Amino acid sequence: MLAGKHILLIIGGGIAAYKALELIRRLQDQGASVAPVLTKAGEEFVTPLSVSALAGAPVHRDLFDLTAEAEMGHIQLSRSADLVVVAPATADLVAKMAQGLANDLASTLLLATDTPVLVAPAMNVRMWEHAATQRNIATLKADGIRFVGPNAGGMACGEFGPGRMAEPDEIVAAVAAEFRDGPLSGKRIVVTSGPTHEPIDPVRYIANSSSGAQGTAVARALRDLGAEVVFVTGPATVRPPEGVEVVPVESALEMQAAVEAALPADAAVFAAAVADWRVASASDRKLKKSKDGLPTLEFAENPDILKTVSHMTANRPGLVVGFAAETNDVVDNATAKRLRKGCDWIVANDVSPATGIMGGSENAVILITDTGAEEWPRMAKQEVAGKLANRIAAALDS
Ligand code: CTP
Repeated sequence: MLAGKHILLIIGGGIAAYKALELIRRLQDQGASVAPVLTKAGEEFVTPLSVSALAGAPVHRDLFDLTAEAEMGHIQLSRSADLVVVAPATADLVAKMAQGLANDLASTLLLATDTPVLVAPAMNVRMWEHAATQRNIATLKADGIRFVGPNAGGMACGEFGPGRMAEPDEIVAAVAAEFRDGPLSGKRIVVTSGPTHEPIDPVRYIANSSSGAQGTAVARALRDLGAEVVFVTGPATVRPPEGVEVVPVESALEMQAAVEAALPADAAVFAAAVADWRVASASDRKLKKSKDGLPTLEFAENPDILKTVSHMTANRPGLVVGFAAETNDVVDNATAKRLRKGCDWIVANDVSPATGIMGGSENAVILITDTGAEEWPRMAKQEVAGKLANRIAAALDS
């Protein structure tokens, strides 16, 4: 997967540095060579000897190292790689990158490089959530720096939340995505996925049982063909794929805003199960039981995101694909839906309970285009996604 690729791995000073040792192995397993750089703080967590022994290469540690400078200057070191990976990236390292500081070897390499940079942050939850860190992350994203993680979970410091470094396998998948070359290389595709949550009050919401499995599979398949994927996802139970830009949202209104912000794009695939209605005026306080009887919820209609994007005059993606979940007269209903929504294709499926498709691992779909209905055999959701991604690649190529 990574044969012949040369990775410059910068290991920052965090407890997650031990995972960087595993990461070196996994990258090598995929055929990559790793040139390691260890920050001063990183040396407090892993030794230069273990990093160097695993990498099978000298570990770079000092900005003013005469021997290293004579062999390979730091400017050349920063540019000889196909990709620079920072794992773990501490809050301090992220802040230095955002400010353009260059006061040690790692930050100097990051400022001097003209190769793509992938960052795997790892820090305490509060540090991750701090406005300063979030500002730095936004700055780096705007500069084109890619991120993988952090994940949420229990942390070494005893706190719980986002801040844990992505696992080595996830980082390897994100590295692989950087090198993916395929028929969708250079194409930007927006994918919506998962359910939406429509708030009733701060602790209650209306939702549906979409797992996000099919949307996630589509995003992964498009990524595998080389597309740059913006994955706008409601609160799904399936984890989003690595190597795509994940935009988490809760409600239909948030999903619509995120989709519009992600345009222009070459194509958009709407696999989300968007709630048709929201509570007209969600309470900002928790609703209490009352002697006056049951609360009455008034509903407002949510925007139809697929229809809105399909009817855009400026910024309409070249190919707009919707999904249709039907329980009867699938072809007729989906054909009518394609015209009503104004999209190019509808991927229709029969979700009546007897099919076992809803919540299952397989899907049997009918692709509705302007030339008619094409029935695909029943197959795994990932295979449906792969077939659809290939069709999208063919359509964008023609
Ligand atoms: N969709 C959307 N925004 C909505 C509702 C649906 O973008 N507010 C998209 C879905 O992501 C899917 C397609 O529209 O791609 C079809 O959704 P579906 O629920 O089947 O269509 P509805 O318009 O709700 O039609 P009906 O419920 O009457 O079958």
